[in-house]
Amino acid sequence: MLTSIDTPAVIVDLDVAERNIARFQDHCTRHGLGLRPHIKTHKLPQLAARQMTAGAVGITCQKIGEAEVMAQAGMTDIFITYNIVGEAKMARLRRLARGCRLSVVADNDAVVIGLSSGFADEPRPLEVLIECDTGAGRCGVQTPGEALALARTIAAGPGLRFGGLMTYRPSGDQAEVDRWLIEAREALRGEGLACPRISTGGSPNMWHCQTVTAATEHRAGVYVYNDRMQLRAGACTVEDCALSVLATVVSRPTATRAVLDAGSKVLTSDQFGLDGFGLVADHPEARVAGLSEEHGVLDLSATSWRPQVGDRVRVIPNHACVVSNMVDSVWAVRGTDVEGALPVAARGCVA
Ligand SMILES: Cc1ncc(COP(=O)(O)O)c(C=O)c1O
Repeated sequence: MLTSIDTPAVIVDLDVAERNIARFQDHCTRHGLGLRPHIKTHKLPQLAARQMTAGAVGITCQKIGEAEVMAQAGMTDIFITYNIVGEAKMARLRRLARGCRLSVVADNDAVVIGLSSGFADEPRPLEVLIECDTGAGRCGVQTPGEALALARTIAAGPGLRFGGLMTYRPSGDQAEVDRWLIEAREALRGEGLACPRISTGGSPNMWHCQTVTAATEHRAGVYVYNDRMQLRAGACTVEDCALSVLATVVSRPTATRAVLDAGSKVLTSDQFGLDGFGLVADHPEARVAGLSEEHGVLDLSATSWRPQVGDRVRVIPNHACVVSNMVDSVWAVRGTDVEGALPVAARGCVA
């Protein structure tokens, strides 16, 4: 029973997670898109395996450390969506590539040159996709023309194979993303460069991913758990939130204040423009108004709910991915039944 779990604790309802996996897999399959889940959300080989069994074409990792954990656990098709820089990482990348189908991204010449010198003597070429900034303002070549120029460098690079285009724009005008990618794809075709994969990503935009017609695959991470950002995006309901933080009321200093035993070291400080630091599942009017490291302060002014010390609540975090990375293990539950603790195997794998 849930009551046997001490708090604060991160709990994952596997019934909900499995439903989320099946539903979005179905969506992608129906639209002829490959689904390549991003495992940085759960960092659990067990859930990656479920995603693969459900029909995923492979997995996405952000960091080599995550990929190492997943390869060790038997994943055979891994895409690392991050510029790899430096010889220490190159040696690890070579080891990884010998054991699975590995692909990576690059958005500049220096990264491509590093990958090429790292893989020139390897038996199999490394598949490199070009990261394109289609409007999110993070990494990525800035124009289809720059994509074409970088593709030429990759195609000519010893040890490399040009794999296509990758972008991450989880919100905003998806038609604009499509136009960008089509223009780049056609420019590449014009020079005889085939573009076997065009990879889009994001969970806020997941139910519209098919509107980017150029895409061949979609990378979603948060969809497996969902969170308050997904709720804001209208991409899920509270019932679809698989991950939550179980916390206990430890103080009631005033009539309208309650203090939880979960602070920023569990719920994290991520806000992304949201008000407060989480959603109390059964009392949405209670505001998670402030956090210190081990305390979460609830403002009860807008609710008649008056919890007592010892009462337990479930808080849906603003951003599930960072919460996963805060704890050694999560509790796998199904409703109120507890299945056991799952070690977060790729926790802290940030390099
Ligand atoms: C490159 C890349 N692809 C895919 C994703 C998954 O998107 P989401 O977290 O919205 O599910 C992310 C998330 O940060 C990302 O950075």
